[in-house]
Amino acid sequence: METDKPILLSGIKPTGVPHIGNYFGAIKQLVEFQTVGSHQSYIMVADYHALNFVQNAGDMRDLTRELVLTYMASGLNPEKVVLFKQSDVPAHTELAWIFDTITTMPYLMRAHAFKDGEAKNKEVSVGTFNYPMLMAADILLYNTAKVPVGHDQKQHIEFARDTAEKFNRTFGETFTLPEEFIVPEVAVVPGLDGQKMSKSYNNTIPLFSSRTDIEELVMSIVTDSGSDRPENVYAIHKLLKTEHELESLYTEHTGKYKALKEALIEDLDAFIAPLRERYHELASDPRTVLDVLEKGGQLARERANVKMEEVRRAVGVS
Ligand code: ADP
Ligand code: TRP
Repeated sequence: METDKPILLSGIKPTGVPHIGNYFGAIKQLVEFQTVGSHQSYIMVADYHALNFVQNAGDMRDLTRELVLTYMASGLNPEKVVLFKQSDVPAHTELAWIFDTITTMPYLMRAHAFKDGEAKNKEVSVGTFNYPMLMAADILLYNTAKVPVGHDQKQHIEFARDTAEKFNRTFGETFTLPEEFIVPEVAVVPGLDGQKMSKSYNNTIPLFSSRTDIEELVMSIVTDSGSDRPENVYAIHKLLKTEHELESLYTEHTGKYKALKEALIEDLDAFIAPLRERYHELASDPRTVLDVLEKGGQLARERANVKMEEVRRAVGVS
């Protein structure tokens, strides 16, 4: 692994079946950065973040494994990027504690996730409240320059930047200020109902869907828009084909929603089929994920520990 390149870091929580919103909004950009080779990438399974949502050991293990296979089937190569699990690097939670001590409650109360929980009268856990500090630690431990994510994560990156500045002001120059990397066209991939595609809204197209599932899901896309063009079908179609390519198809089939959905099924299946095949191939060897995480954890720990030592010295506990 080369270490003189700028650092890129990103992560996903293993909280459910990965969907095409995760792929187009986040994972695809990570694969493109790997191809270009401009950065050294650290790609994480954010299992300690997921623990706020998944509180069953078997589910946590299965979802973690599924996410690693998803990264790999999507094209991330563990020989080129460091693929690791957050909980394998204790420095993340250690640094999150230090950040807690320099962060105020009113500041964290501005977080969208906290405000949503309050608005819905939920009892927000301390883990959810502190979520942005653990994420700041994830990012800042590696001197990360770039964080590719979907639009919903923008505020978290701002929190990480603010936290780096606050630490640097308090204890001396220690952390690099990270920048988010968000691709505007895919910042919010819509789901079957036109809302943001999300595990929590039950409106997703899973990334490794079978042909039959794709057919059923596409046929269930909500199309009561009243216009000539089924907007929700078009919005998903646009991920797979250029607007120019779609123009003739949608003009030819004006008002014919069924034909347009059938065309989308073909295009989705053509995109998903090779990913599905690769996923099942990788999944057939139970050692694959274990080996990748072992090696990735080792590399991530080595790098994180160097930074953590610098932080301990800066705050005076070393
Ligand atoms: P979900 O909303 O389904 O729970 P996550 O919060 O686990 O998804 O998101 C994992 C990554 O995928 C994040 O970088 C997030 O920004 C991105 N992402 C998730 N859903 C979408 C979407 N509909 N459009 C664009 N990016 C998305
Ligand atoms: N909070 C992110 C999400 O819900 C996941 C995540 C955790 C992350 N740590 C990260 C993303 C660090 C980018 C960088 O999708």
